[in-house]
Amino acid sequence: MAQSARAVICRRLNEPVVVEPISIEAPRRGEVMVKLAACGVCHSDLSATNGTLSMQLPLILGHEAAGEVVEVGEGVGEFALGDHVVSSFIYMCGKCRFCAMGRPVLCVDQGKALTTLPDGTLRTRDAEGRALNVFSGCGVMAEYATLSVENVVKIDRAVPLDRAALVGCAVTTGVGAVFNTARVVPGSSVAVFGCGGVGLNVVQGARIAGAGRIVAIDTLAAKLEMAKQFGATDTVLAQPGEDPVKQIKKLTGGGPDYAFECVGSGELASLSFRAIGRGGMAVVVGLAKPSDSTAVRTMTLPFEEKTLKGSYFGSCVPRVDFPRMLALYLAGRLKLDELITRRYTIDEAPQAFADLQSGRNARGVIEF
Ligand SMILES: NC(=O)c1ccc[n+]([C@@H]2O[C@H](COP(=O)([O-])OP(=O)(O)OC[C@H]3O[C@@H](n4cnc5c(N)ncnc54)[C@H](O)[C@@H]3O)[C@@H](O)[C@H]2O)c1
Ligand SMILES: [Zn+2]
Ligand SMILES: [Zn+2]
Repeated sequence: MAQSARAVICRRLNEPVVVEPISIEAPRRGEVMVKLAACGVCHSDLSATNGTLSMQLPLILGHEAAGEVVEVGEGVGEFALGDHVVSSFIYMCGKCRFCAMGRPVLCVDQGKALTTLPDGTLRTRDAEGRALNVFSGCGVMAEYATLSVENVVKIDRAVPLDRAALVGCAVTTGVGAVFNTARVVPGSSVAVFGCGGVGLNVVQGARIAGAGRIVAIDTLAAKLEMAKQFGATDTVLAQPGEDPVKQIKKLTGGGPDYAFECVGSGELASLSFRAIGRGGMAVVVGLAKPSDSTAVRTMTLPFEEKTLKGSYFGSCVPRVDFPRMLALYLAGRLKLDELITRRYTIDEAPQAFADLQSGRNARGVIEF
């Protein structure tokens, strides 16, 4: 059944997001309609509103949400009414060689669900009946959404939906970068550049993995306090014009084994690479604008056997990693409650984006 709802939309670049009434079509074959409970506000949503990430406008934002299945399309066997689900912003065809080798974040069909559903069509229209694009096949910063079954994962009902939502991006991206991309080993040293929703999850991923030293770096002192709560053993306040590498090397006895760039800057990516010690690995998680580039001192690659690596969505397999993250939460080992600094109503969405821009929150969550 078609559904009326309100959604958070980017109409024009570099303007505040707007909240508008929309209509959502019933799910077609292989799709489900979800009544969303909560959606986290990620820096990637902000990046879509300022052109850092290039996406077709007008765009319904949101890719980090949880809710309940309220309608299932034809041929959908794996979901039933009332199931609790979390959105997944990667599309996985299940058949290409990357999907087959268990690396769906590299699915060759990835681009298929960039701002539409995987079949290239949309179920969302504005009050004038014009089609609205959706962020990464999701567009879940809305009261309802119709999604492909490939973009939703069923979860344990024991986890409150507002907390489960965070597994849809920040948690899986951050913890996954540690577990899956870098495979951090116990006793190693880790540096984390940028302690927002993603970076704080790298910090707690490193703690769970048993890292001995975890150095958190941010330009905001309040973020460093949060990082300590998530497991940072040391903090460095990054000052404009100052190079923190010396201090990081000193704290880690010559440079950490791993460094994670969680801001989205080529300059910081090269700084992370410079910071790591011999045999170290620098992992770029932040999403920089397309024109950005990273320089490394070539010689250090062979002589110091350093690695520069990227991590998309924590190199995860959503159906494996979402339940795994939530199991860690239920076992008391992964912090989700502490990630939500502030909750917003959908009408307060412009404020939620302003607070993200100013770095006020670990994560802000919009509740529907
Ligand atoms: N690779 C992926 O799959 C993936 C997934 C989600 C988000 N991201 C990207 O990760 C990045 C972080 O996302 P987020 O939601 O955590 O953002 P956020 O805005 O919550 O956090 C960014 C943090 O970086 C800090 N910072 C800014 N400049 C800095 C500097 N020069 N040195 C140190 N710290 C600095 C800010 O104070 C803030 O605490 C963004 O680029 C986002 O697009 C990537
Ligand atoms: Zn995100
Ligand atoms: Zn594939």
